[in-house]
Amino acid sequence: MDKFVIRGGNPLVGTIRVSGAKNSALPCMAAALLTEEEVILENIPQVRDIETERKLLESMGAAVQLGYGRAQHRTTICCKTLSDPIAKYEIVKTMRASSLVLGPLVARVGMARVALPGGCAIGGRPIDLHIKGLEKMGATITQEHGYLEARTERLKGAHIVFDKITVTGTEDLLMAAVLADGETVMENCACEPEVSDTAALLTAMGAKIEGAGTSTIRVQGVTRLHGARHRINPDRIEAGTFLIAGAITGGDLIVDNCNPEHLGALIDKMTEMGVHVETLAPDQLRVRADAQLKAVDISTEEYPGFPTDMQAQFMALATQADGVTQVKENIFENRFMHVQELVRMGANIKVDGRVATVRGATPLSSAAVMCSDLRASASLVLAALVADGETILDRVYHMDRGYERIEEKLRGVGAQIRRLGNVFGSAQ
Ligand code: EPZ
Repeated sequence: MDKFVIRGGNPLVGTIRVSGAKNSALPCMAAALLTEEEVILENIPQVRDIETERKLLESMGAAVQLGYGRAQHRTTICCKTLSDPIAKYEIVKTMRASSLVLGPLVARVGMARVALPGGCAIGGRPIDLHIKGLEKMGATITQEHGYLEARTERLKGAHIVFDKITVTGTEDLLMAAVLADGETVMENCACEPEVSDTAALLTAMGAKIEGAGTSTIRVQGVTRLHGARHRINPDRIEAGTFLIAGAITGGDLIVDNCNPEHLGALIDKMTEMGVHVETLAPDQLRVRADAQLKAVDISTEEYPGFPTDMQAQFMALATQADGVTQVKENIFENRFMHVQELVRMGANIKVDGRVATVRGATPLSSAAVMCSDLRASASLVLAALVADGETILDRVYHMDRGYERIEEKLRGVGAQIRRLGNVFGSAQ
């Protein structure tokens, strides 16, 4: 069982580099299913979810090369033959984003069997909106033995209005629409940068897409797509996590290889708290915190609002701010798993439904804590960086899903952190 041991108290100083965005790489890897030709993706993060996606694509018959080190974090995917268009439960249960293969598989081969993802720590995570959209495009979808089966001669263009804004739902149906017969108009789409990144790859493959990144996307279906080479966006959530790491430790940190334009809502809130965040270059931010922080409320919203994926990390920072912070989680029904662990470290937090009330500033002390999901793990690492003493974090395999070698990156800017066990150790 992987653990981190973190001794708090060191301000983080220096330059820390952001990896490619996991939540862009996952739909972009799925997009390779749409063509028989090679798709090459650069700036792929070395994280567990990418390994899982590689296994998933290979299980269907795809050829996937995945290289790190000097291979510039690149994957080359060729889905010339898809011998087995099934997303098996053993893989899907470890990563619900596997549902991203549903749309491209139905569009490419006219059928797909995808295990229902099931919920996860932060919520039920249904995919009913993915299904509804595919049915509107002419797919027949049945469900049995925990699997969805979708079949069609050829998808046809449709007018789809999402009941709720869904990031992977938008990406999944976008990937279905690009090979559909005719025009598809999708309204109430997600505007996250990861949707735009996926659309950029699809366009490079020959798709005809307008409006990606806005709430209305228009697609003219084509009969085939060709291979392409595409560089994945920097990970805005990893970058945001590092901004908070610099602030919570009272350091002076340069966050490199990021996109400041994707972090507006977070930067505004941190600035309001009294943190200095400045843009040094189009791909570089500097964060400093040299005064007592003051409490500022947040409410998570779809992009460009405050990201739900930064809520847990922000809450760790809020424990060090003077005053009362109201944290409202509007996207997921159970995304306060980090609260009890932060309370065990000395934080004063009360949860009432979708609202957590943080009273600060409270000194944090080290404790043995348990990671429960990807972003809750990040929140506990941030708290441990400022806690008095040595904190032991258990089940850090959750962290390895979305943060590339985070202990090496943090150590590189002065954190006292070490891993017990090994990267990609088996998740018990
Ligand atoms: C994506 O998940 C991200 N994952 C999540 O990041 C992120 O938290 C989330 O978007 C919100 O920004 C990936 O991109 C791989 P949603 P997704 O569909 O697409 C409901 C991380 O930490 N909904 O936008 O699964 C759903 O229950 C992960 O990197 C339906 O009701 O989220 C939720 O309440 C965690 N029916 C809301 O919509 C559906 O068919 C938003 O979910 C789909 C979603």
